[in-house]
Amino acid sequence: MAAHLHFVGISGSLRKDSWNTMLLKSCFSLLPSDVTMEVASIGDLPLYNADNDLPAVEQRPLPVKQFRDILSKADGIVIVSPEYNYSIPGGLKNAIDWASRGTDSPLLNKVVALMGATPGLWGTNKMQVAFHPVFQFLNIRSVYKPEVLVNQANKKFDDNGILIDEMTKDVVKKQLEALKALIFQLRGEKIQG
Ligand SMILES: Cc1cc2nc3c(=O)[nH]c(=O)nc-3n(C[C@H](O)[C@H](O)[C@H](O)COP(=O)(O)O)c2cc1C
Repeated sequence: MAAHLHFVGISGSLRKDSWNTMLLKSCFSLLPSDVTMEVASIGDLPLYNADNDLPAVEQRPLPVKQFRDILSKADGIVIVSPEYNYSIPGGLKNAIDWASRGTDSPLLNKVVALMGATPGLWGTNKMQVAFHPVFQFLNIRSVYKPEVLVNQANKKFDDNGILIDEMTKDVVKKQLEALKALIFQLRGEKIQG
């Protein structure tokens, strides 16, 4: 019997017609076997304020508690984000900061797949590199290969926001499979199913 895994997806863009949100949604049809996924929204999180965090965790705003609760159910996290000014978008970094504090942080020791989409040419490379110190601090293990850097995103989705580029579908599928494999590897289990 194969073990069931649950992924939680986060889009780093709040924009209604975001390419990154489209890419995240396309993951639902590309998940490995025995894996489910839900999306955690970061749009309602207030700006990080340590006065409402440790040690007074009961003061955490409700959207923060809900965000942390969803993340705590995740065996793996899928982050799909644009690059803002060569780095991580502020809203996404804010969400990571809210989820990062305390020994009960739902990010500590987690396993992450990171992707990015842009209509530009360089495919969010610098945003992805900027995540590595964050992963290191939180002892997060990320999938290194394959990397998913979707450039010219405006050519890769149809008018309904469906991913139609076969090479992109293939690499996203492989990265999600690599996330599953890394989770099992770190648990010392063999992949089944
Ligand atoms: C504040 C801001 C900063 C940006 N900085 C970069 C950047 O550093 N590199 C890049 O390739 N694109 C940059 N862009 C363009 C984004 O890649 C583009 O807006 C993209 O569509 C955003 O992703 P989304 O469609 O998921 O919202 C920037 C856009 C904004 C709004």
